[in-house]
Parts: sequence; structure tokens; C-alpha cells
Amino acid sequence: MTDANAHPHVSSDGRFAIVHNGVIENFAGMKKFVAGKGYTFTSETDTEALVNLIAYHYEKEPAAKNGNRFLDSVRKTLLHVDGTYGIAVLCTESPGEMVAARKGSPLILGVGDGEFILASDVSALVSRTQNVVYLKDGEIVHITPTGFTITTADMADVAPVIDRINWTIEDADMGTFSHFMEKEIFEQPAALENAMRGRFSEDQSTANFGGLNLTPSDFRQIERLQFCACGTAWHACLVAEHLIERFARIPVEVDYASEFRYRNAPLHRNTLFFVVSQSGETLDTREALREAKRKGYKVMAICNVVGSTIARESDGGIYQHAGPEIGVASTKAFTSQLLIAALVALYVGRMRDMSFSGGTQYVEALKKAPDLVRKALEQAPRIKDIAKRYAHYQDFLFLGRLSLFPIALEGALKLKEISYIHAEGYPAAEMKHGPIALVSEKCPSVFFAPKGEVFSKVVSSIQEIKARKGKTIVITTEGCELPAGLADEVITIPECHEAVLPIVASIPAQLLSYYIAAELGRDVDKPRNLAKSVTVE
Ligand code: AGP
Repeated sequence: MTDANAHPHVSSDGRFAIVHNGVIENFAGMKKFVAGKGYTFTSETDTEALVNLIAYHYEKEPAAKNGNRFLDSVRKTLLHVDGTYGIAVLCTESPGEMVAARKGSPLILGVGDGEFILASDVSALVSRTQNVVYLKDGEIVHITPTGFTITTADMADVAPVIDRINWTIEDADMGTFSHFMEKEIFEQPAALENAMRGRFSEDQSTANFGGLNLTPSDFRQIERLQFCACGTAWHACLVAEHLIERFARIPVEVDYASEFRYRNAPLHRNTLFFVVSQSGETLDTREALREAKRKGYKVMAICNVVGSTIARESDGGIYQHAGPEIGVASTKAFTSQLLIAALVALYVGRMRDMSFSGGTQYVEALKKAPDLVRKALEQAPRIKDIAKRYAHYQDFLFLGRLSLFPIALEGALKLKEISYIHAEGYPAAEMKHGPIALVSEKCPSVFFAPKGEVFSKVVSSIQEIKARKGKTIVITTEGCELPAGLADEVITIPECHEAVLPIVASIPAQLLSYYIAAELGRDVDKPRNLAKSVTVE
């Protein structure tokens, strides 16, 4: 990143300024063309080619066909663009006006009190207005001091639909916390309550989803589920795979969205797709959704952001209702995805082998999740203390089994992204097949060792680490006896149902990563090289 490549970019004639989110794939040809017309460049960006092409069209055709030369020059330019963009453009000769457009990248118009705001995410504008227009691909908005109009690339008028964001300014405020990530970790009990509200059937034996747009008998025909997502949401999908296969006995496949879209996977006829995305704007996930739809499959979305592109393009879905997640590192959105995964496992399970009483017990267990998370959060002071002692290590291993293997992956990802410490997640039993070579007094291991069927197996893996002088931080169930000398640090979580365990076990891992990063003085909410929603390929 350099100052020269930073936005906004200005055309070399000084007339236009642009901010751009996306990638212009044919920018080299565009750049050659405008350079041949005398426009010059000061950066390496594709955006500068775009803004110079706008200036070229403006200069070339002084008489606008639609009565607005500024709008017309942007529209003409966009006809030549291959790639993705969310742009906002200013012109020195049209003060008070702005032209914005999207294709592939998100763009939202905030309709405020005497002002209009453009943003790629609602959290950026919720402090000014809750009234928004979610622009669709191919739409161009022209803002003037008195109003705005939306048209398509071929000049058709679009009647704007103004939606209301159900978040408030307080949701986007850090309050007394030091970082949004910290606030969002502590908001998890409420986020879970919101994710489950209204989602249990009247008889309290199964789940209830309003937005799937599938009848129970449609669902009954489904023989396989396919999940696609990226990053943390992909880890949530791995937990979904475990829970659905365990409780509903139906095969589940999980793909990275970025791989799915290119690998042309053979798919079973009766497959139902789920894409999972906090932002609902991740480009790879959206493209996986589109690929599945092109192949004729129905796609459900699990999203947090209402009205997001993925939510709108899917055939149905489940909103997370976790509230705005502002910290780049996903926390409350992740655990609310885990809760929804547990609800889907219940729903499908009850259509198959799960009995009425099995269902009611499962429902009772899920209802306890917010309180169990509150209990797990009580360990925060102890975890902060551990973090201070471990913040100087350069490498960590996170190890877990079954549904906690994805939580080990997630713990490692959290630590990496906000503290810049190298960390790897593995199934605990895989250690002996290679990663154990990394173990030394310089590489601590974080173990997930709750009470359960593989507890003794995980204890054996911890012993392997101790025998090689590795430090161990063990996350285990309250009251669980660990052999003496096995754990250098113990963090306890309350005992819980298998469907709730991944949620509760996530809490200490999030806190540990957060406190290590805070101890190191990292920019926790905006870690280097990362964006909250990744809208480029
Ligand atoms: C999470 O901490 C990361 N910032 C990242 O992996 C994220 O989960 C991923 O980019 C997917 O985002 P989405 O849920 O908005 O699609």
C-alpha cells in the first residue's frame, strides 16, 4: 500500500475524483487507450484508468444525450468495464452532484435528513440514517442537492425502494469497551438470544424457520446438504457438517466458496445448498451461490446483514440477527452461525430419526446457550492474565477433535488475523502425523479437552506435547479432572450439550486471541491487510 495508490484517484485533467471498490479486469487495455489520448497516471491502480476514461468521455462528448453530461460520461465508461466495481464519482464542473454505480461490489445509498451517504456496508452509515437503498448490480445513482435518481446502464428508470436498517446508532458505538471486537465478544449472549428468538416450533420439539421458502415436504426430499463459505463462516460450516451428520444423519459436504466455484464438483440431484456469510457481500461466496443456481439448485443463505446481496439473491434463508459486527475479526456472527447450524441439525433431524422427546431435550439445551456463554465469559480476567504471559510467543497450535476441530481452526485464525502471531489448527490426533515436529518450549498448544467421548484421547495428545516440553493451555469442562502436571494453564467452560459445545468452547479462544492482540498493542478492529467484507476475488 502506498499513498499514490490510495483513493480517491483524480483524472489527469483534474476534473474527476473517484473512489472504487472492486477490480477492473481489462484496465491494462483501458489504460493504454487513455494514455494514447494524452491522459497520464500517478499510481499503479486500475481505478486511475477508470477515472481517466470518464474524463475522456466527458471531453469527447460535450453534449449529453440525457441532459446530464457528468452522468452520461460515467455511464458510457461503465459500458467498457469488465470486472467489479462500487464507485462514487465527483466532477468539478457539477458541484453538489455525485454519480455512483455498482456491479459485483456492494453499494448502499443512505437517505438522511438533508443528506445522502454512500457506503459499501450499512455499519458505515447507520450513525447518520437508518433509511437506505440497496443498489443492485448495474444500477447507477445520480445524487443532486435536491434528490436522487436511479437508472440502469441502458438508461431505464428504476423506482427506488427505501429500506429501514434495524440497527441503531448505539449498536455501532463502542461504549465502554476498548475495541469493537471486545464489545462483540461480550454481546454474544444477546446475539444468541436474537438468533433463536421465534425459531422453535410451538410444541418446542423442532426448529421453525420463516424464510426458507421450502415446505417440510420439499425438505423431506433433500438427501444431501452442501455448504459454501469463506474464512470464519467456513469454520461454521464445518461445525454444521458435524452437527447435521450427527443429529440428522444426512450427508453434508463443505467447500470453500472460492474453490467450489471453479472445481465443478459432482453434485447429487437432491442437494440443498447453504451459503453462509456474515456480510452477505463476500464475492467468492456470492459467486458460489450463483454457480449453484446456474446448475439448477436451490440455495439458502445464512446471513447477518439484512438486504445484503447474498441474502437477496438466494432462494430463501435464515437471518442471524446478531446486530452489526464492526470488528474485522468475526466473533458474535460466528457463534450465531453455530447456533443456526444447530437449529438446522434439529430441523432436519426431526424430519428423520430424532424423536419428539429427543427434539424437546435438544431445544431445552439450545435455550441454555446464552447463559452458558455468560458463564464462559466470566473467565475473561483469568484469560487476560494468561494472555499477558503468552503474548511474546511466535507460534501456537490449536488442537481439538470432532466438533471442536473447527473451533481449533477458528481459534488459530482469530489469533493470526488480529495478533499477527503464527498459529495452526489441527485435529488433536493428527499431531503425530507431522505437526508434532513443531512442538518445543517455544510453541504453546491450546487444547480443547471437554468432558466427552474423546476426552481420554485428547488427554493422551496433551501428554505427547508435555513429553516434548511444549507449554499447554487446556480448555476443559468445569469439574473435569486432568492428570497432574498436564496443563500449564487451565481455562474452564461450563458443561453443555453437544450441539452447544462449539459455541461455548469458542469463547475462551476468542478472549485469548483478543487479549494477546490487545497486549501487543495491535489494531484489533482493523488488522493489517484485511477488510471486513472481501468483495474482490
Ligand atoms: C473472520 O474473522 C474473517 N475476518 C474472515 O475470515 C471472514 O469470516 C470471511 O471473509 C467471510 O466473511 P463473510 O462471513 O462476511 O462472508
